[in-house]
Amino acid sequence: MKTLICGKGGCGKSLVTALLAMELTKRRYKVIVVDNDESNFGLHIQLGIELPKDFALHFGGKRIVTEKLLGSKGAEEERFSVIGGEIRASDIPEDYMSKKGGVNLLAIGKIRDFGEGCACPFNALSADLLRMLKLNEGEFALVDTDAGVEHFGRGVETGCDLLLMVIEPSQESIRLAEKGNKIAEEAGKPLYYVLNKTDDETAKFLLDSVDKNKVVSVIPEDKKVFRYGLVGEALDFELKGVGELADFLERKKSRDR
Ligand SMILES: Nc1ncnc2c1ncn2[C@@H]1O[C@H](COP(=O)(O)OP(=O)(O)OP(=O)(O)O)[C@@H](O)[C@H]1O
Ligand SMILES: [Mg+2]
Repeated sequence: MKTLICGKGGCGKSLVTALLAMELTKRRYKVIVVDNDESNFGLHIQLGIELPKDFALHFGGKRIVTEKLLGSKGAEEERFSVIGGEIRASDIPEDYMSKKGGVNLLAIGKIRDFGEGCACPFNALSADLLRMLKLNEGEFALVDTDAGVEHFGRGVETGCDLLLMVIEPSQESIRLAEKGNKIAEEAGKPLYYVLNKTDDETAKFLLDSVDKNKVVSVIPEDKKVFRYGLVGEALDFELKGVGELADFLERKKSRDR
């Protein structure tokens, strides 16, 4: 199961990715976390893992990845792949994959310097990797993305089995959920919602505003999260709603088998 986590800036994508990864490892799964957010550097801190070398460097860096991947047009199956064929997590060299317990972190797009241009090559590399990545029994892949829906349509979602959109209590987030829904339909990928930063009142409002049937988890606003973020500590607590989300993914995984 490869799951992509998306949503508006600051809605809690990285928090959900980190807590979900930790919950799944408690359930004895191996989790491959792909940090595909080229603008933020928080996920490895939330996970308490060192940031690995950027995966783009494995292929010679951004310029070479750009030439090879963005120069290749045409139907998806015909497109050039720098990965070159089926790849398993165990094939990825250690330098590019930090490990802690059952969590394995891979970073793509962290080497972009100021004014260096768009994130397209990194999205293309993530798309390539996710298409080629073959998971073993007992493995989950979670992909944390940058804000908005730019990575959609760049193919990052193509190799994923499922999309999770995190929604915080704001109109902007609700509207992005509708947009995400349309794009997911066009891409033929199932999309589900995670409501985050909620209390009773905002959870009710969100449930009335989006398609209820797609909501698989409701996570409360919790001061702890804020405090850990302020100090920059790894998240080491459980939060309501994350267990339900892990249950949902486990059910999906066993159904897909
Ligand atoms: N359930 C929650 N309760 C309290 N604070 C939260 C919660 N979820 C997220 N936050 C806070 O909201 C901020 C954004 O969270 P996070 O970095 O996980 O979001 P993001 O969607 O990954 O952001 P970005 O778009 O910048 O990558 C952080 O300061 C975090 O502490
Ligand atoms: Mg983030």
